Amino acid sequence: MRFGYFDDKSREYVITRPDTPLPWINYLGTDSFFGLISNTAGGYSFYKDARLRRLTRYRYNNAPLDMGGRYIYLRDADSGEIWSPSWMPTRVDLDSYECRHGMGYTVITSKKKGVEAHIRYFVPLNLECEVWDVTLANEREDEVNLDLFSAVEFALWDAWDDSTNFQRNFNTGEVEVPDLHIDPDGGDVLRGTIFHKTEYRERRNHFAYFACSEPLNGFDTQRDAFLGPNRGWDRPLVVESGQSKNSIAHGWQPIGSHHLKLHLKPGEAKRVIFLLGYHENSTNEKFDPADSNTINKAGVLPVIREFLSLDRVDKAFEELREYWKELLSKFTVVTPDEDTNRMVNIWNAYQCMITFNMSRSASYFESGIGRGMGFRDSAQDLLGFVHIVPERARERLLDLAATQLINGGAFHQYSPLTKRGNNDVGSGFNDDPHWLVLATAAYVKETGDLSILDEMVPYENQRGTEMPLFEHLQRAIQYTLERLGPHQLPLIGRADWNDCLNLNCFSDTPGQSFQTTTNQDGNTAESVMIAGLFILSCQEMVQLASIVASHTVTKAYDFHAPEFYLEKAQQMEQAVWQAGWDGEWFRRAYDAFGEPLGSRLNDEGQIFIEPQGLCVMAGLGVEDGKARQALDAVRDRLATPHGVVLLNPAYSRYQLRLGEISSYPPGYKENASIFCHSNPWIMIAETVIGRGDRAFDYYKRINPSVREAISEVHRCEPYVYAQTIAGKDAPTHGEAKNSWLTGTASWNYVAITQYILGIKPTYNGLSIHPVIPSDWQGFEAKRIFRGVVYNIKVERCSSSSSTRLIVDGQLIEGYVIPIPPEGTLEVNVVMELAEN
Ligand code: BGC
Ligand code: NOJ
Repeated sequence: MRFGYFDDKSREYVITRPDTPLPWINYLGTDSFFGLISNTAGGYSFYKDARLRRLTRYRYNNAPLDMGGRYIYLRDADSGEIWSPSWMPTRVDLDSYECRHGMGYTVITSKKKGVEAHIRYFVPLNLECEVWDVTLANEREDEVNLDLFSAVEFALWDAWDDSTNFQRNFNTGEVEVPDLHIDPDGGDVLRGTIFHKTEYRERRNHFAYFACSEPLNGFDTQRDAFLGPNRGWDRPLVVESGQSKNSIAHGWQPIGSHHLKLHLKPGEAKRVIFLLGYHENSTNEKFDPADSNTINKAGVLPVIREFLSLDRVDKAFEELREYWKELLSKFTVVTPDEDTNRMVNIWNAYQCMITFNMSRSASYFESGIGRGMGFRDSAQDLLGFVHIVPERARERLLDLAATQLINGGAFHQYSPLTKRGNNDVGSGFNDDPHWLVLATAAYVKETGDLSILDEMVPYENQRGTEMPLFEHLQRAIQYTLERLGPHQLPLIGRADWNDCLNLNCFSDTPGQSFQTTTNQDGNTAESVMIAGLFILSCQEMVQLASIVASHTVTKAYDFHAPEFYLEKAQQMEQAVWQAGWDGEWFRRAYDAFGEPLGSRLNDEGQIFIEPQGLCVMAGLGVEDGKARQALDAVRDRLATPHGVVLLNPAYSRYQLRLGEISSYPPGYKENASIFCHSNPWIMIAETVIGRGDRAFDYYKRINPSVREAISEVHRCEPYVYAQTIAGKDAPTHGEAKNSWLTGTASWNYVAITQYILGIKPTYNGLSIHPVIPSDWQGFEAKRIFRGVVYNIKVERCSSSSSTRLIVDGQLIEGYVIPIPPEGTLEVNVVMELAEN
């Protein structure tokens, strides 16, 4: 069952009914001002940091789920009937409804009794403010008299404190509403603007504003006054009575609501703009007059004035459309498969950009107060967006590296506001440092910018500790080499990629954090997954070290030559064959007692997905058939129609020695759900052994666009990946959770574009090596790589018995297109694949 459809031409998903199984959301904002918005206008906004600079309040896990947002209420002044054009929060039936989630904007259109409402929400480029562009049209034969009320609830900035510290917070709320009739500024914008300024009197220099382009009939800023006693957002007293109270918040819950009276003739339409924004003043120019508590508005008024103009709003919207069009033009494909085209060209790339901005901080599953920017997460996200915004990828890499620990390890996360690492969710996840190596490698391959390797970057943000980025990567490798266990495999530390495999945390205390508790000595539990990752990382270091060897003359650190990394990779491979191979597949780990996990010797958790993917990706067993064996075991034991589960059999009981993984009921999360992030590793591994049909089959199983047809089962948004889909042991097999912010986005993007379609950046040029399904006759792609447009045509050719790569008419050896001479704008590539 579907709840909408894809409009690929407009790059939109169109939701045709408001009662989707879960709120289906989108993101607003591209740079520093962001918002989450659901298909019924729920959600909230923040400046840079969803925890520390929250503008509007949202109550997670509410009933109904999606309550709190950017609301408009309409009231027919003649009949007294009220409704919300976005359905929520009144939930009054609408005559028609449509929500279009597009690239950085959402448009909700609905009709009720001959009144059409059209609301376009977006954040203009480079602006710290969101626009609600509302058009109301009268389709009746008579005049319509409407009361329009806007409504937002302000958060008192720190979202954590806001939802816990009520003994203080019920006293601090403050607003400013310039007098409606006296206009001190000579213009009229102040007349419709509500300023939220809690804590501005003391240490905050920032405030929020909620402005309106039309003259007001009234306003409200105190929640109780607006809602009325014992009422909720579904039926505010002020809306019902058609008269606002001009309330001023003193403590309690500050809100912003404008009241407009509109009279529309038959056929007449009226457009109203609302702006919800953030502004920061300098400390010594906070107040006007200087010795008052009144906000100095000199800096913000020009912005409000500019963006309350209809033309400016239209222009800003066009700029946003252009911006996304340009970003998404970096890589486009035309394949025989519609779901592939739509994900690669639009939604998967878009989701990669959203994970870049949000990491794992703010979604409808991530509350925005729990997690900052993950080290591992942000590094992996980069794999999916580096070709879209390479300059920002560069900055991200340097930010990440600057939080790296001096011993080569990593804080598990850092704050987006301060860019400093912290221990809130622990450190000592022993896989972390390697993702920095892979991300840097991806950046260098994409851009050819070698200078980044010499960039001086501090450790732990400490001045005086600066070292070239390359040395940071060396230390990442060193970190593992200094932490090898009894089988010469990497010690797992707190956990590896699988945050829930906490083999050094024997926890019997309710509520204790599995992520930060370590009570075993840590010298025994080992990870085969990190072994695979380490080998991948060393393979990149071989290349990077030879680049550094040839272009950097003096090195202020202990430089290891490529041979060093080659040797370390070989040694690790031997350790894997000695202790990490179970006979038919790769083992997962050794626990704190030195017992294997992911082995036939176990009753449960006999086989895990991660090492099968990563070890084969690193090339292990490709020659001697072991890779094929491991992947066949994945097919036989882990694959389901909804995707590949993380492990099998699921753990049926909690086990002290395993940690969080066994805390989940079977089939959920790390305990044998289809943990989508790890599925593309299997797709890639299948391409490594040349099995295109199987790789693509796995790709389709979790592709959200394919799953659109079973939205009642999948339940999450059909246009983006979710972190998990309940596995075969779960009663709700096939149900997705934790959509949007997941490494699934970038890895699936990499799997389909670089391995199945096979268009892959390398240090020496773009490589074309498709491993596509046998029933495809070919496909076309346009890829912008290092400033050059590559027009690529892949076709099966009955005349050739082997693959031929023809570049601008010339036959080329191998798969890599040599970097064209300076000044080349376009390269035409034909890849002939042998008939099956
Ligand atoms: C989840 C993991 C997540 C971790 C992060 C766990 O509860 O199951 O998926 O990575 O928390 O803190
Ligand atoms: C989600 C986390 O964000 C990610 O870093 C981790 O690898 C997976 N969960 C698996 O546990």
